[in-house]
Amino acid sequence: MTNQEILEKQKKYLWPNHILYYTEPLPLSHGDGLRVWDADGNEYLDFFGGILTTSVGHNHPKVTQAVQEQAGKLIHTSTLYPNAPHVNLAEKLAEITPGRLQTSYFSNSGSEANETAVLLAQIHTGHREIIALRHGYSGRSQLAMSLTAQSAWRVGPSFSPDVKHALNAYCYRCPLKMTYPSCGVACAEDVEDVIRTQTSGRIAAFLAEPIQGVGGFITPPPEYFKIVKEIVERYDGLFIADEVQTGFGRTGDHWFGIAHWGVEPDIMTMAKGIANGFPLSNTITRPEIADSMVGAGLTLSTFGGNPVSTAASLATINVMEEEANPARSADIGAHLRAGLDKLWEKYPLIGEVRGKGLMQGIEVVTDRQTKEPAPNAVVQLFEESKARGLLIGKGGLYGNTVRIAPALTATKDDVDRALEILDLSFAEVHETMNVS
Ligand SMILES: Cc1ncc(COP(=O)(O)O)c(C=O)c1O
Repeated sequence: MTNQEILEKQKKYLWPNHILYYTEPLPLSHGDGLRVWDADGNEYLDFFGGILTTSVGHNHPKVTQAVQEQAGKLIHTSTLYPNAPHVNLAEKLAEITPGRLQTSYFSNSGSEANETAVLLAQIHTGHREIIALRHGYSGRSQLAMSLTAQSAWRVGPSFSPDVKHALNAYCYRCPLKMTYPSCGVACAEDVEDVIRTQTSGRIAAFLAEPIQGVGGFITPPPEYFKIVKEIVERYDGLFIADEVQTGFGRTGDHWFGIAHWGVEPDIMTMAKGIANGFPLSNTITRPEIADSMVGAGLTLSTFGGNPVSTAASLATINVMEEEANPARSADIGAHLRAGLDKLWEKYPLIGEVRGKGLMQGIEVVTDRQTKEPAPNAVVQLFEESKARGLLIGKGGLYGNTVRIAPALTATKDDVDRALEILDLSFAEVHETMNVS
């Protein structure tokens, strides 16, 4: 099929609320590593990986082989029957997740993993209320939209009254109009204020992304999560780290992002990069917390822990260990960051570059003094970079943050090519916007 034929059917047969990137949406046909091709045969360098999901590159041969072997053997069991890839993946995740996290419940999406985490925290503590962070994104189920704190992503008329939102650590646009480090990370104390003023005073959990993904790669200062964890413990809550975007070495140096903040979560959720594109998510916790589910009622997941997806995940983690471990992501990420920092020096449109490892964001503004968001500049940057063969992502409450997150197998040459295209594209945007 051609691009045009796919677009016509998309329009006719799919709900119109599907968000599609680019003025002329881009139907993808096939991929190989960091490259993808559209249905008309045009090649692109993929620096967004289907939203940070093709973690070791499109169609990695070792993942494909594992999938083919498993598909030839057994495609489905449901969670009613144990199977080897399911238990082996649980064992592997117990090994690479921090601290005492050891026991897993697999499902199919980040939204489901967060639902499972909140349910577990509520049953374990006997409390209802959850603290989440402003600008956070937790998924598209009703509870996940309630946890989400960006109005555009909160669709529909009803949300859970059990979720309250505290200020996030958005240093570039400090919600308290303070400056780090003289602020003393005052925003972290808002978690306590919210608990004391908007809840019964006892919470089930605090849930946050170590780096807010859809929020625009907002990266809290080093002290932030330790302060919050201490508050959450004082009010009997559990700490849930949503590692859907930050997991699996994405942030460099560690397998999971929260390790950068020296905090051991009670529950962790993961999805996206877990299986290089196969639908799979997980909620992992300590055995004594998981034990609370015994006797709480019946639960199953028809597709949860599907043998093909879990086999894909085991192969993906294996590839990471062999070719793209967290230390390598830190190194390639530092190279990417150095290049983006150079673009910051060159283009006043770039207000801030932030992130960790291979999760780097560029917040685009019309003026560095006023920090007025420039979403239109990002729209143009998208078109310019696509025309030159580079795919990137975007996010942020104001739609003005570029999200750069290539597969962890990206080489320095791939990064240099992407930086070159971004440089040319920013030059065009600058020209159009007449920024001096
Ligand atoms: C941090 C985070 N949590 C949860 C989700 C929801 O995941 P899914 O789209 O797989 O339901 C997302 C999706 O972007 C996410 O970024």
